[in-house]
This record gives sequence, C-alpha cells and structure tokens, in this order.
Amino acid sequence: MHHHKTTPESPIGIFDSGVGGLTVVRAMQTLLPAERIIYFGDTARVPYGSKSQVTIRKYAQDDTTILMRYQPKMIIVACNTVSALALDVVEKASGSIPVIGVLDAGAELAVSMSKGKHIGVIGTQATVCSNAYAYAINTLDPDIEVYSKACPLFVPLAEEGFTDHPATRLIAKEYLSAFDEEHIDTLVLGCTHYPILRNMIAETVGPDIRIIDSAEAVAQRAKALLEETSMLNTSGEPANPHLLVSDLPQKFSTLYRLFMGADMPDVELVDV
Ligand code: DGL
Repeated sequence: MHHHKTTPESPIGIFDSGVGGLTVVRAMQTLLPAERIIYFGDTARVPYGSKSQVTIRKYAQDDTTILMRYQPKMIIVACNTVSALALDVVEKASGSIPVIGVLDAGAELAVSMSKGKHIGVIGTQATVCSNAYAYAINTLDPDIEVYSKACPLFVPLAEEGFTDHPATRLIAKEYLSAFDEEHIDTLVLGCTHYPILRNMIAETVGPDIRIIDSAEAVAQRAKALLEETSMLNTSGEPANPHLLVSDLPQKFSTLYRLFMGADMPDVELVDV
C-alpha cells in the first residue's frame, strides 16, 4: 500500500456516481469554505443504484484510485449506494486516510433527531435492498423501527430539474404513501440526488416529519473529524471545487448550476 503524507492544506476528495454528490460539495463549502475540494463524478457510468453489488464495488475501487492521485487528507463517499455496499473497498484503496460515507453520517443524525423511534429512509434500489441504513441505525439504537422505500424515479426527476413539477408531486405521493401507516417522525434522504427535491418531499409528507439530508450530515461529520485531528485548513480561500468527470454530457453545466447554484468551473475529463 502506498502512503502519502497529508497536511491541513491537502485537499478533500469527494466522489459520487454522477452529479448527486454535488449536494455534498455545496454543504461542505457552506460549512468549511477554506477547504480545497476535488470532486469526481462518474458521469459515464451513472446510475449505480440499479446495478449489482459486484459492479458497484468495482466502480468504488476505480473512483477511489482516481481521487488518490491528488493525495487527499480525507475521502468523502458522497454516494449512498457506495456507502451502503462498498465502503470497505474505499477504505482499503485509500490506505490510512480517513474515509467518511454519507450513510453513517445520515443514520447518526437521524438517530439523534428521532424522538418517536420510527424512522423512514428513502434511497436507490441498491441502498434499500442492502438494508445498510437499518443496520447502521439499529447499531446505534436497537429500539428504533426503520421503514425503507426505494424511489428510483427521483434521480431522473432531479436531473431534469423537475423540482416543482406536477409529475414529481404525483410520484412523490405514490412513493411516500408507503409511510402513511408507519408513524415515522423522521425521514432520511438516503440518496445524494434527493436534496434537490427536498421541498416537494417535505410538502408531501407534511410538517410533522423531520427531513434528514445525508449531505449536510456528512459535512458536519467531516468538520468534527478535521477539528479532532487538527487537520482543518485555516489558510485556504473559498474557491471552486476541482471537477473531474468520466463523461461530459451536454447537460452537465445545467446540472451543475441546478445542484450548486453557481456557474460551472473548468472540468477535467478522466478515464475510468
Ligand atoms: N447519488 C446516488 C446515491 O446517493 C444515486 C444515483 C445513482 O443511482 O447512481 O445513491
């Protein structure tokens, strides 16, 4: 295993299957504006959420290898699907640097927020089938009931920018009715695309259910870990993330604007 020396000025590597992880980049920039961020979106192979575990684990290995070229001080897995099925692959491929996944961070925040101990989780097919959220939540508190629902159509709806569209409302009603009888008080957005649809999801489930954004949760956890290990960057200036993608589709700049609320900086195309 090749080890590199990291300093507080080293970048933080973040990856996702595509654009969804930009919600994590945005949360990181809000919370930690002095950090340098390298973001890899595997736009050539998205989506991961409908693929098998074998394929997802192979992709996770490739994604980590790409980010390791930049000698990051930390890796954030901004994909719930990879966090659920391949976090150990990322940990192994990144040597001794800390790795944090959106899933554990989201689970922890949800447990700390749920008073009624009934938590709903929405995510991709692979994330929901893995049962990883229920496992993570029940490891922290075995008395919590976890109800999960795969919402695969939310990913293309988010990518179409259908944040306030009647089609999204209809599909949200259909999916989220799964929780009608479960008395949940907390709902985890267990996919990094979903924060784009947060308002619609919140409206659909009603004001009594607290929404947990796994992207915000992981940024909070990253900050705490950097503080604990004295690895916070104290000299950096706010800057655009360094963007790497495996394909540059025409709509990427539009998607970047939708997810980041800013114009797209230069993008580097990488082979996977
Ligand atoms: N952003 C991915 C996740 O958090 C979902 C998109 C995909 O299926 O690749 O799970």
